[in-house]
Amino acid sequence: MQRRDFIKYCAASAAAVGAPVVSADARPHLYQRVKLVAENGAPLRARNLPANRNLIFHYPYAATPCFLLNLGRPAKAAAQLKTVDDKPYEWHGGVGAERSIVAYSAICAHKLTYPTRDISFISFRAEKSVGNKFARVIHCCSEHSQYDPADGGRVLAGPARQPLAAILLEHDAASDELSAVGTLGGEMFEQFFVKYAFRLSLENGTDAQRAVRGVTPVTPLESYCRQQVKC
Ligand code: FES
Repeated sequence: MQRRDFIKYCAASAAAVGAPVVSADARPHLYQRVKLVAENGAPLRARNLPANRNLIFHYPYAATPCFLLNLGRPAKAAAQLKTVDDKPYEWHGGVGAERSIVAYSAICAHKLTYPTRDISFISFRAEKSVGNKFARVIHCCSEHSQYDPADGGRVLAGPARQPLAAILLEHDAASDELSAVGTLGGEMFEQFFVKYAFRLSLENGTDAQRAVRGVTPVTPLESYCRQQVKC
């Protein structure tokens, strides 16, 4: 969403504070506003994002990966979704000139599979395959949960019981730059840090839960990760 849209969106959410049907968990969770930049730190323009390509950045913590995707066509304008504990929320579509740019936590909502530097079992797949009856989905090969990135990360197949948590993006129409500002939906960060405490401490030292501030580099998945498992 553009900055003006985003402010309206937050105002609407704040106005709903007293509403009993929406829990705090299902409202946008705002973190630091962090600009997405190229690997070398140069500005990243939304118009230059390649379509249907897995791009990775880390947000809102140093060790929590996210997918940045240009779907190559507009995402749905809005999606009505629910967390695993039945809390409803509304996702407000993609950003950028074509409203085709979306971002999601890359931590699978089933059992927290995520892309590491060594291997990735979860990624966006533009094409169908033997194990993937849907095209244009984020597919986790662990137990084949499939999520629709054009529809707020909705679960299309597999055992996941809630959508991927969306990353809220802000698009500056003047500069064509993108910033991450928060999350929407069922975050899995607490469970993630507990489940992978040992591995994350080896990989990140004491840095895993450091809040990302300022800028976060965006990297093609094939550069970030040595091996991608396709299924
Ligand atoms: S961890 Fe992703 S489908 Fe089970």
